[in-house]
Amino acid sequence: MRRATILVLLIALSSVIAPLPLEALNVRGHLLKSKTFLSPAFFLHPGSVSNKFYYDVPFPRGHLALKSFNAEVVDENGVPVPLHDTYLHHWVVEPYYALKNSDSADAQKLPKGIIARNSGVCKKTLGQYYGLGSETRHTATWVPDPYGIEIGNPEKPPEGYEEKWLINVHAIDTRGAIDKLGCTECKCDLYNMTIDEYGRKLPKDYIGGLYCCYDETQCKVKEGFNGELRKLFLRYTVTWLDWSDAVVPVKIYIFDVTDTSPPDEKSGTACKVEYQVEECSPENRAKNECIDVKVTKEVIPCGGDIVFGVAHQHSGGIGASLHGQDGRLLCASIPSYGKGEEAGNEDNYIVGMSTCYPKPGSVKVSDGEVLTVVSNYSSDRQHTGVMGLLYILVAEQEQPAPKPALCFSFPVPWCLPTWLTSNL
Ligand SMILES: *[C@@H]1O[C@H](CO)[C@@H](O)[C@H](O)[C@H]1NC(C)=O
Ligand SMILES: *[C@@H]1O[C@H](CO)[C@@H](O)[C@H](O)[C@H]1NC(C)=O
Repeated sequence: MRRATILVLLIALSSVIAPLPLEALNVRGHLLKSKTFLSPAFFLHPGSVSNKFYYDVPFPRGHLALKSFNAEVVDENGVPVPLHDTYLHHWVVEPYYALKNSDSADAQKLPKGIIARNSGVCKKTLGQYYGLGSETRHTATWVPDPYGIEIGNPEKPPEGYEEKWLINVHAIDTRGAIDKLGCTECKCDLYNMTIDEYGRKLPKDYIGGLYCCYDETQCKVKEGFNGELRKLFLRYTVTWLDWSDAVVPVKIYIFDVTDTSPPDEKSGTACKVEYQVEECSPENRAKNECIDVKVTKEVIPCGGDIVFGVAHQHSGGIGASLHGQDGRLLCASIPSYGKGEEAGNEDNYIVGMSTCYPKPGSVKVSDGEVLTVVSNYSSDRQHTGVMGLLYILVAEQEQPAPKPALCFSFPVPWCLPTWLTSNL
């Protein structure tokens, strides 16, 4: 390896291990820029829940190509908070179009904001551009070159509107909880919950999930447990390039294994987001077959090259995959569990999901292809409020195959840019 290459490699390494100290890195004449932001503060005491939506959050502005988005929960001093203290149930980031001059008389009749959803396939839920949960510290979100997620295109917002960004953070404080896993799985009895946020009675068979751990609910903590009120933030780092002809746009698709409506009549309302895993039967336990396999079929409206894929699962998850109509594997994503105490390695929590970076041009889907989504959980015990999502990025045009980027997930998710790997 030439000395110059080693030097660049060291710079690249140091820039991914610490929250990027560099503001910009030169990639094939394009400046890779990076900036770290803090969400508004949220406050938690032992057992409490915060599920807030923050509008018009700080975000890079201009016509850009997003390359990565990494996030974690930190305290007032910027110290990462481990999941066994503050369980990060999920965070979601998405653009919306906000009405300019909303005070004018003409504007009174118009909606103040319009959500700018991803490319599908759920109609009402899961419209985000990015969204992860406990796995956020060790899950790569890097979009390989020459691709990028296009944002800030001035042509996109409807007349009179401008693009802004919202973040939803759902965090559960489990310090002193009598049942930490139960609190993170939103078991209704632990939250003493029989009606939902809007006063509707919960169905008898609904024993856990988001309806029982909405904003400002309280999970049961040990009698006499004391813990201070904590001031916390979602700290997020966005990496991007200025938009140019050199960037190939990708579409974002999210497939939900709970979307069980038949492929040709998607109402969209069937993306239920969460589901329940029942404990396996004694017969299956005796045969060592305590696996819950959930499967659904989804139609991808527009095909192309899959350039990135990742799944989202909760504790108990053992892997999820996406298959083409002929059964071929498009992407499998497997969770990794922590083994220790410290933030990023919390015992029994999912601390990362493996990702798919197919050799560009090697994994194709066609317009209207019927895909199969599979989500596996251990059914050693019952799990409530679990998820099985497959997130993929698809490039529509045919591209001459560029050299693949080299990506790693240790000690944090990072990739070598292709201009560098082509020198190695
Ligand atoms: C649980 O909820 C019921 C009714 O909503 C209420 O009467 C009761 O005091 C609550 N119990 C606890 C421990 O908060
Ligand atoms: C899911 O479980 C099935 C049945 O055990 C297995 O064949 C498949 O490989 C699993 N998939 C993943 C992604 O773990």
